Amino acid sequence: MFSSLQPTAGDPLLALMTAYKADSRPEKIDLGVGVYKDENGHTPVLATVKKAEAILLETQDSKSYIGTAGAPALGKAIEQLLLPASYPGRKELLESGRVATVQTPGGTGALRIAADFIHRSLPNAKIWVSAPTWANHFNVFQSAGLEVKEYRYYDQPTQSLDFAGMMAALEAVPAGDVVLLHACCHNPTGLDLTAGQWEQVATLLKERGIMPFVDAAYIGFAESLEEDTKGINILADHCPDMLVAASCSKNFGLYNERIGSLTLIAANERDAQAGFSQINYCIRGNYSMPPNHGAAIVSTILNSPDLRAEWEDELAAMRSRILEMRLQFVETLSKLGVKQDFGFIAKQRGMFSFSSLSPEIVKKLQVEDAIYIVGSGRINVAGMTPSNIDRLCQAIARLLD
Ligand code: LMR
Repeated sequence: MFSSLQPTAGDPLLALMTAYKADSRPEKIDLGVGVYKDENGHTPVLATVKKAEAILLETQDSKSYIGTAGAPALGKAIEQLLLPASYPGRKELLESGRVATVQTPGGTGALRIAADFIHRSLPNAKIWVSAPTWANHFNVFQSAGLEVKEYRYYDQPTQSLDFAGMMAALEAVPAGDVVLLHACCHNPTGLDLTAGQWEQVATLLKERGIMPFVDAAYIGFAESLEEDTKGINILADHCPDMLVAASCSKNFGLYNERIGSLTLIAANERDAQAGFSQINYCIRGNYSMPPNHGAAIVSTILNSPDLRAEWEDELAAMRSRILEMRLQFVETLSKLGVKQDFGFIAKQRGMFSFSSLSPEIVKKLQVEDAIYIVGSGRINVAGMTPSNIDRLCQAIARLLD
């Protein structure tokens, strides 16, 4: 039966992760896959997660199914996170019946369910992603049968956002298509839109009848929860219908619990209910019902004022550590006399930056120095620590000279 099959090349990012794990050199540095690491290079369980788990251990009295949409308490808490009360008009929006949320297995699960929903409900819609985008977006959307197109986003020579190019490309997107935007911490470039740019994009999408779909994988990792959800809220002010896929992998450190959500905002309550039922249909035909543990943790934290405040502090600490590493990286390279200006890294946000290191240098860093970077040159700044930054910068300086 399977004799004609050839193995696939697999996902290069996962292959890099495997190669890193197999590397026995104790000095190895992982700047590959997007997981947060603390100053000791460890991906910690947040203290608030441990506390929530202790509460669940005491109070949980059943492991029965939770239904296709997951726990309503989680859905409501996520909606309040994405559409915060501090933003004008959100209370009214949340009470309007236009918003509905399902719990999904990770942010990727939300992307896949959204893609199934788009394919089923808007059969002629194509999906447009930024060039570049998270490599797995292509796999997820194409696996659901969607045609994926790209719009301009990154200007390689200047290592900056090509906003004029982006707007020109979005002008050419046909009405009825879907445009995927990154809420913050753009993966892989670390380049985000300003509030003014979000306004322009939202106005254009509204005028052209294009539906925004936001991938919110890093909320809280750029500036603050409020700032990082500004784009979502500006879009919600302009566009009648939109989708938001959110992940709790990074901001709650719950990578392997696979917890995320898909939020639908529709023009009116009837449309929201119809869309919600279609999304639940897609879930039932996919994995039937989501797992509970990660959702129960997030819901416990977000629905307890004390735990929520403590979690926000933990999130702020992760965010500041990454920012500090960005600054140290730029400063150390400059102190080592590297001529190339890496100042752009300090201006970008989130875990990732396009380092502009060539594939040859990336390869040499892995072979000669046990430093793991994605082939495109994307670096996970969260993998830098006070104890590995000097060695990292020395290796880069050596290879650039
Ligand atoms: C990444 O881009 O490194 C993360 O989103 C992890 C993943 O699954 O690819």
